Amino acid sequence: MKNSGSTYSALVIGATGSIGSAFVRVLKRDTSCLHVIELSRQSVPALNLESEQSIAEAAQSVAQYGPFARIIDATGALTLDGQGPEKSLSALNADHMMRSFQINAIGPALVMKHFIPLLDGKSRAIYAKLSARVGSIGDNKKGGWYGYRSSKAALNMLLQCAAIETLRKKPEALFVALQPGTVASALTTPFVRQEDCLTPEDAACAMLRAMDALKVTAGAQFIDYAGQPIPW
Ligand SMILES: NC(=O)c1ccc[n+]([C@@H]2O[C@H](COP(=O)([O-])OP(=O)(O)OC[C@H]3O[C@@H](n4cnc5c(N)ncnc54)[C@H](OP(=O)(O)O)[C@@H]3O)[C@@H](O)[C@H]2O)c1
Repeated sequence: MKNSGSTYSALVIGATGSIGSAFVRVLKRDTSCLHVIELSRQSVPALNLESEQSIAEAAQSVAQYGPFARIIDATGALTLDGQGPEKSLSALNADHMMRSFQINAIGPALVMKHFIPLLDGKSRAIYAKLSARVGSIGDNKKGGWYGYRSSKAALNMLLQCAAIETLRKKPEALFVALQPGTVASALTTPFVRQEDCLTPEDAACAMLRAMDALKVTAGAQFIDYAGQPIPW
C-alpha cells in the first residue's frame, strides 16, 4: 500500500462487520502496516456507537498505537431491530428513523470527534467512512429507503464539516465517504443474492486502492470502490 515508502499504523472501527473484518485481513497482509487496531462492540474496550463514553474510552485506549495513517470506520446498519428500510412515506416511523440516524450519522460523528485527533498530522493520512451511494441526493433516482438514505446523506455532511475543520490543522489529511459496491454481507443478505455481490475482500482491496489514488482536496470526497466520484 502506498504510504511514502514507510511503515504506518491502521485502525478499523466496526472490525466485526463483513467489510470491516475484510479490511482488517487485507491490512494485516500489508508488510508496511505495523499495527492493525480493531475496535467493535466486541473489542476490549468495546465501542458502541450509541454511547459516547464508550467511543471516548476506546479512542483513549488505542492512542498509544497512533498516530494513524489509516482510520476506517466500517460501521453502519440498514435493518434495525428487525425492521428493514421503508419503501413509502406511509411506512415512516419516528423511532426507526431516529435509530437509523443514531447508528449511521450521529454515532459516526462522535467517532470522528474522538478519533480524528489520532490521525497523523505530519504526513499523508486518510480518514475513511463507509457511506453508501444511496446517501447521494444527486444520484437518487428511485426514492424509498428514507431513513437509511437520509442518515447516510447526513453522515456525508458531517464528514465534510469534519474534513474542512481538520484540514486547517492537518493539510495532508484526506477524508473519504466510501461506497463499497454491493458486497456480500449480513447487511445485504435480506435484499440481494449473495452470489451476485462482490466479496468483502475484493471490495476492501478495491477501496484501499481507490484511497491510495486520492489527491488531497479542500474537503471530503465521495467515491465508489473503483475510485469513481459520486455526486453528493
Ligand atoms: N454491504 C454492502 O453492499 C454495502 C453497500 C453500501 C454501503 N455499505 C455500508 O458499509 C458499511 C459496512 O456494511 P457491512 O455490509 O459490512 O455490514 P455488516 O456486516 O452488518 O457490518 C456492520 C458493522 O457495523 C457495526 N455496528 C452496527 N451497529 C453498531 C453499534 N451500535 N455500535 C458499534 N458498531 C455497530 C456492526 O457491529 P456488530 O458486529 O457488533 O453488530 C458491524 O461491525 C455500512 O456503513 C454500510 O451502510 C454496505
